[in-house]
Amino acid sequence: MLLWMWSNMWAKVPFVGVPVHVLKNIEEALELQDGSTVYDLGCGDGRVLFYLAKNNPKLKYVGIENSPFPFVIAKFLSWWHKRVNNIDVKIIKEDFFKINIGDATHIFTYLYPNIMDDLLPKFDRELKKGTRLVSASFHFTSNRAIGEIDLKRGKYQLAKKLYIYQF
Ligand SMILES: C[S@@+](CC[C@H](N)C(=O)[O-])C[C@H]1O[C@@H](n2cnc3c(N)ncnc32)[C@H](O)[C@@H]1O
Repeated sequence: MLLWMWSNMWAKVPFVGVPVHVLKNIEEALELQDGSTVYDLGCGDGRVLFYLAKNNPKLKYVGIENSPFPFVIAKFLSWWHKRVNNIDVKIIKEDFFKINIGDATHIFTYLYPNIMDDLLPKFDRELKKGTRLVSASFHFTSNRAIGEIDLKRGKYQLAKKLYIYQF
């Protein structure tokens, strides 16, 4: 708990995992295919990637996380899932602004509105044509989503919508 609080104190975007009830919706919105490479930018404890990898074990998964507490959890879970479920999820401790994500075919984000806007030039610069982005809760100010999914969550619940973008 103390580690979680300390870790979040320095973060512009704190670690709050996406609710597990919406993982299936995220998978459907991503529309993964054979050969997909999926990034979770700010992967937290890696729950989204582990869920996807269990259902689609042949694809490539990369989680980037710069906050020590969630990173350690995600790294441990990646080792554990490899041993128990034989699935590969690469977890990298880094600032996602500093990593080239040009090999992504699919990206998931659950961040914050200003960070989404800050990421847009990077996406426009690095992403291949056709890369699909699914963002929980937050959209670009210049919203150009190709789809929105209402997750039918309660008034006080997090992650009410998924925004879908195609680059
Ligand atoms: C709201 S949490 C979402 C975690 C995970 N994607 C999920 O949906 O369960 C956002 C995560 O992004 C991480 N984060 C924020 N800015 C980052 C950056 N510049 N580079 C890497 N990770 C970052 C935070 O540390 C936090 O764990």
